[in-house]
Amino acid sequence: MTRQFEFNPAKVHTILNETWRHLNHAVETEMHPWRLGTLATLFDNRPRVRTVVLRAIDAEQREMVCYADRRSDKIQEIQNCPWVEWATYDPVTRVQVRLRGQAEVHINDEVSARHWEASSLEHRRGYITVSEPGTKVESATPNLPDYLFDRLPNDEESQLGYKNFAVIVCRVEYIDWLELRRNGHLAAQFLWTDKWEGHWKYA
Ligand SMILES: Cc1cc2nc3c(=O)[nH]c(=O)nc-3n(C[C@H](O)[C@H](O)[C@H](O)COP(=O)(O)O)c2cc1C
Repeated sequence: MTRQFEFNPAKVHTILNETWRHLNHAVETEMHPWRLGTLATLFDNRPRVRTVVLRAIDAEQREMVCYADRRSDKIQEIQNCPWVEWATYDPVTRVQVRLRGQAEVHINDEVSARHWEASSLEHRRGYITVSEPGTKVESATPNLPDYLFDRLPNDEESQLGYKNFAVIVCRVEYIDWLELRRNGHLAAQFLWTDKWEGHWKYA
């Protein structure tokens, strides 16, 4: 299927709708480049970025969701300062979006339980570790118990990972949109107050 970013140049809000539509498509499509984003946090007034998988979105609630190990640095960073920004680019549509907002971390609650229930055994294996992520080790070694080196956990074993599982929910307040074009790029931005306000801008 060809991906296209469709909008009406006279109506900037069509960009907003298309952005959420493409984000939704990305969640459902393994190979969609927007399924991977760069998530930025702040630590000690300095930026930290990393790649994450977009796991869910809710356009009505302006939510973007990713998962993480609760012991990873980003969890502490978000708990200290909830402001985050996602950036992602699709080389087919040549559209970059940057989405800024405040994030909330869910651990061992109703939200995390719902996402955990829906996750695969392969995904859950990533949360069954030998040591905390980031712990120094003498040689290049996967952070997995021996018995999971070459197989997936069964459902019961997979539950060991739940205590380490965190869901990060970002509520978007600002969207910056850029489409690269050979004959001049196009750009727009949107700010949420109690509704979305948007305008075109020069790139
Ligand atoms: C393609 C790709 C996808 C990734 N997806 C995730 C993810 O969804 N969640 C996550 O916590 N880390 C993910 N990572 C690892 C992070 O980029 C990062 O290395 C790790 O989470 C530690 O980050 P932190 O120390 O800033 O918390 C991914 C890495 C790559 C290369």
